[in-house]
Amino acid sequence: MIKFNYKDVAKEQGWCFDAISPLVEYSSDYYYYGEVVKAIKPTTIMLDIGCGSGEKALKYFGNARHIVMIDIEPEMLKRVENNKKKWLDANDQEKFEVKLGDGDGHLDYPDEYFDLVVSRHCGANMSEVYRVLKKGGVFISEDIDYLDCVQLKEYFGRGQGWETIKGGKPLKKEIVDQCVDLGFSDIVLKNFGFVEYYPNREQLKYLLTRTPILDYFDEDEDEKILDHYIADYSTEKGIKLDRRLYAFRLVK
Ligand SMILES: C[S@@+](CC[C@H](N)C(=O)[O-])C[C@H]1O[C@@H](n2cnc3c(N)ncnc32)[C@H](O)[C@@H]1O
Repeated sequence: MIKFNYKDVAKEQGWCFDAISPLVEYSSDYYYYGEVVKAIKPTTIMLDIGCGSGEKALKYFGNARHIVMIDIEPEMLKRVENNKKKWLDANDQEKFEVKLGDGDGHLDYPDEYFDLVVSRHCGANMSEVYRVLKKGGVFISEDIDYLDCVQLKEYFGRGQGWETIKGGKPLKKEIVDQCVDLGFSDIVLKNFGFVEYYPNREQLKYLLTRTPILDYFDEDEDEKILDHYIADYSTEKGIKLDRRLYAFRLVK
């Protein structure tokens, strides 16, 4: 059984999926990195929670004055350090501070320290985010909706957000309620999606064994289920996968 965990993925490839190349059809023009770049000024001190291997952050966040990147998985942070050395000059390397940290727990920074806090596909302790943001500071995040890959998850009877699909309260609703209580203003929640078409079974399995979409992949039981899904969702463009995400922008 291949049980998903960030440590193995970090060792093997980091949070980088260049090895697969699904055709993507977008139905929204929302782009997380575009939103973050718009919020960055030359004076910005920012925090990236759950930075992963940081490929895109290192590429796009460099206009900020200082960027703190935290992740709970040390192997991811090793990759960020290597990527920094590969891609950035000494000056820019200094701007990116890479630290072990738990975004769900206490954030080890003083009150009102950051102008901008961001998080992509990683939860955050919102009361701590509120505390470390300056007045007028902004939080931007993108996360996986419980309806992401819902048809696929129905075939397997499990996966990310499965409890919610079966009748719970969506996490995004809880987060909005909590953010209102905390005192955030200008709360913008955006639901969006896109369709991916995988060119073959190997690429789809690559995704499913290296992400939390299904939690785990059982080589005995799950190959047959995947075959059924592929038989039903194969199209001229490839094997169809319906992706659903949501994004927040909040102001303290
Ligand atoms: C889905 S990856 C996203 C990485 C990156 N934000 C991106 O979009 O490319 C989630 C990352 O969050 C990290 N993570 C998971 N739980 C965390 C926590 N409680 N605190 C900090 N990082 C966490 C994982 O180790 C992983 O690197």
